[in-house]
Amino acid sequence: MPKRPEELRSYRWLGVEDSRPAFGHRSRLFQVGYDRSDFAGKPVIGIINTWSDINPCHTHLRTRADEVKRGVWQAGGFPLELPALSLSEMYMKPSTMLYRNLLAMETEELIRSQPLDGAVLLGGCDKTTPALLMGAISAGVPAIYVPAGPMLRGNWRGGVLGSGSDVWKYWDEKRAGTIDEDDWREIEVGIARSFGTCMTMGTAATMMGVAEALGFTLPGASSIVAADSAHGRMASASGRRIVEMVWEDLTPARVLDARSFDNAILVEQAMGGSTNAVIHLLALAHRAGVPLSIDRFDELSRRVPVLADIRPSGRFLMEDFFYAGGMRAFMTRLAPQLALDAMTVSGTTLGEGIAGATVWNDEVIRPYDHPLYPEGGTAILRGNLAPDGAVMKASAAEPRLLKHRGPALAFESYDEMAAAVEREDLDVTADHVLVLKNAGPQGGPGMPEWGMLPIPLKLVRAGVRDMVRISDARMSGTSYGACILHVAPEAFIGGPLAFVRTGDMIEVDVAARRLHLDVADDELARRRSAWTQPPPRLARGYGAIFAAHVRQANEGCDFDVLDVPMHLPEPEMH
Ligand code: FES
Repeated sequence: MPKRPEELRSYRWLGVEDSRPAFGHRSRLFQVGYDRSDFAGKPVIGIINTWSDINPCHTHLRTRADEVKRGVWQAGGFPLELPALSLSEMYMKPSTMLYRNLLAMETEELIRSQPLDGAVLLGGCDKTTPALLMGAISAGVPAIYVPAGPMLRGNWRGGVLGSGSDVWKYWDEKRAGTIDEDDWREIEVGIARSFGTCMTMGTAATMMGVAEALGFTLPGASSIVAADSAHGRMASASGRRIVEMVWEDLTPARVLDARSFDNAILVEQAMGGSTNAVIHLLALAHRAGVPLSIDRFDELSRRVPVLADIRPSGRFLMEDFFYAGGMRAFMTRLAPQLALDAMTVSGTTLGEGIAGATVWNDEVIRPYDHPLYPEGGTAILRGNLAPDGAVMKASAAEPRLLKHRGPALAFESYDEMAAAVEREDLDVTADHVLVLKNAGPQGGPGMPEWGMLPIPLKLVRAGVRDMVRISDARMSGTSYGACILHVAPEAFIGGPLAFVRTGDMIEVDVAARRLHLDVADDELARRRSAWTQPPPRLARGYGAIFAAHVRQANEGCDFDVLDVPMHLPEPEMH
């Protein structure tokens, strides 16, 4: 039974006739030039737009907001565009992760404090997606996500360049002296050729795909290339759909359940997705009140192979993925594993959304029996070095390093590590395990993407391109290598990582999901009793608030005051 206009949330602001506050609200719409017929009895749709001049991944979102508005008007809604914090992965320092929860709070409060009946969420650059979804879940009104979409392929001398991955790759080649300054400058110009997000399977592409698998987008929306005209049509269609969703009262709580999260994890694993997705999905699930533990990622990773042959795990880029059939076709390959009866914002099931989709290129989207990697991309390791878990993108590591024992080379801080790896006289071999501490949720703070520690210069020159690296940091989804990340609990709060010393032997066994520090328990206890917490890196303002409230990586790094599913009362009208 559809809602009646008097049941709209916005009715209290705009619909009540004999009311001084409603008089004020309506008079200010007239002030802007709207007529009563523009809004009376219509769902008010907030278009939460993370466009910004400083976010090149979102350059097109102003235009997309207009296209969403067109759809909202067509369907009989009243659109209002609301700017929100743009988390520009390229420019925000030390890390956009520090600000994910801030955008999540802003999204939630933008919706809650204003007369919105539904929300269209515009974003895509890395942390923007989880932040928007987290906020919308907590706000509880119907919401649909319009992913920014990936940019076009990079191009250099007739070859293809991929965001992030080829930056790291050619930076090491430059350090090794195999390319020169002119080559490097040409790469700089050719690697980002259009608006849209990174086009490798980084955090952006991963989280856009995850959002679709959760049921938060129209079918196929997440893989449409940003510069393709289909992207604008998808934005308008999302505008039309959100109006219907409001009348149907199709809230996130009615879309999301344990099946949706399993679908999202399976898709993320089979895409060879970013390790960041683990943290974001944990946070999203907590917001939605769906029980989810880090171990579920490992269980599901053993159930599906990596089928997307996309960099950094594979060869192709998101533009190829789109032409190969995109996310709908990709999910048909996983269909036997997915909960096809899970609900989506379309008002239909996931299975109905992918019905009839076809894979057009088996090299890009591999057949189930011819995978890129036999298991899902993300493994969860545990052991005395990470009692609450650590994450590794095993599909993007050199296979010889998946079982390894070597001496630690430990660093207390990023600056210490960054200076050391450039030293020609550094006492290091390819068998060493590089360890970085104090880069976790509180220690970073915000878990900067420092987890792909640079290979020491003298080893790069000797041809080494991968070695085992361990930290409580994250790494970019476009990064690669034998990097063990998100070690929990983090060093800054006295997790075992804090007690690693140079020369300690460390064992990694990915098949056994084991991460072991080969130091006797009594020696570790001695080191623990002598340990003191380092001073905070950010002692005032938002950084201090963040460090005081952020949870650990295995809990999703949400704030302790935000990850509680709870319905707050509607605002009073004064
Ligand atoms: Fe925006 Fe990579 S910098 S998605």
